[in-house]
Amino acid sequence: MESIKLDITKATQFLNPGVVEAYAPQVAAAQVALENGTCSGNDFLGWLHLPSSITTDFLAEIESVANTLREKCEVVVVAGIGGSYLGARAVIEGLGNSFAWLIEDKKNPTILFAGNNIGEDYLSELTTYLKNKKFGVINISKSGTTTETALAFRLLKKQCEDQFGKDFAKNVIVAVTDEKKGAARVTATQEGYKSFIIPDNIGGRFSVLTPVGLLPIAVAGFDIKSLVEGAKVMEEETSIDVPFANNIAARYAAVRQALYAQAGKKIEIIANFQPKLHYFAEWWKQLYGESEGKDNKGIFPAACDFTTDLHSMGQWIQEGERSIFETVVSVEQSNATLLFPHDDENLDGLNFLEGKRVDEVNKMAELGTRLAHVDGGVPNIHISVPTLNEYYLGQLIYFFEKACGISGLIMEVNPFNQPGVEAYKKNMFALLNKPGYEAESKAIQERLTNDK
Ligand code: PA5
Repeated sequence: MESIKLDITKATQFLNPGVVEAYAPQVAAAQVALENGTCSGNDFLGWLHLPSSITTDFLAEIESVANTLREKCEVVVVAGIGGSYLGARAVIEGLGNSFAWLIEDKKNPTILFAGNNIGEDYLSELTTYLKNKKFGVINISKSGTTTETALAFRLLKKQCEDQFGKDFAKNVIVAVTDEKKGAARVTATQEGYKSFIIPDNIGGRFSVLTPVGLLPIAVAGFDIKSLVEGAKVMEEETSIDVPFANNIAARYAAVRQALYAQAGKKIEIIANFQPKLHYFAEWWKQLYGESEGKDNKGIFPAACDFTTDLHSMGQWIQEGERSIFETVVSVEQSNATLLFPHDDENLDGLNFLEGKRVDEVNKMAELGTRLAHVDGGVPNIHISVPTLNEYYLGQLIYFFEKACGISGLIMEVNPFNQPGVEAYKKNMFALLNKPGYEAESKAIQERLTNDK
């Protein structure tokens, strides 16, 4: 089996010679701190050796619960937000049919997502769609108290019970949450739901290879053994024993830090030429945004889907402020083959493409874009994925996690906390007069009055 590859040559041309190599000692120090658990955030390092610690028995248990949901449900709603949502969606959409929800598929339940927003229309449309359908729910929340997820779950639980009874609901609702604390755990215990534990030492955005991601991915019909195997191979290939010159996670971390600190590139755009990777980029954005954006530091993680966004963001990328660099995730081989047909009349003038694969045109668009953006002053990092399958997505997930840990530590932040996320919650609870927030409610009302 091959591995994903990293090419930084079109990024290093924007840096002084040797700058990336000069990061080797800092990278090594970060790797030692991760391994020895001496870095900040060291109580959240459970992801580091997670792939190699997952047992076949554990995967079999997840598959068995997934099979129950697959047998009993035509739809499964995955309720969760942030790290309790994006990893599963990234893999399911990365591997699934682009028109999955329109296709009548007797083998696989339709997977829908909720609990990641508070849109009344969204939830109303979802509950309308689920009317009289046999649906199950995977309720994912590490804290067990996240408002968005809890609100959606309250609606879904009631609807599930009302439609087919409490006994049916008990068999098709699964909780993935903390071992002991939080409302999701209390509900699961009281109602007798099957549940999985999110380990204490794994934060949300690093949890895709726990049941947080593995259960929904297995319910969707994908091979979680292969996903974990890919991640395990990447755990070995990016381990502390692999020298800097060959360690792609170390090199990616180093080149991003060099571009940020030495070349003033404050924004990283992850770009793909496969629409299926849209949610993979969303997962990546959370991973890097929440890990690095603190203490008034951090590369801003942005994402573009090409060629779609070349017709919206392409102008800015080509000629806007030179504060960006690009990381292209390129898929070498499409899974499908589709050739452009001959047309006798050639009214569209496209006969020069006759017999070519659609992907060949896409690849030329990709190469042309990379060259144009480099010419326009945008450093370009290239990550090449042999094909879209579970194994390579597993590699990609672990690669980005490892590089993120190293990169955050080089930047001297705690990559594993997210204190800034609490600020909006505190205000929202105060505005909603949540019990326990009386003082905050009073203060925010006074502030709003003074602002008028
Ligand atoms: O990465 C994180 O820790 C966060 O994005 C969380 O995953 C997110 O806030 C959801 O939290 P919880 O799983 O507690 O509902």
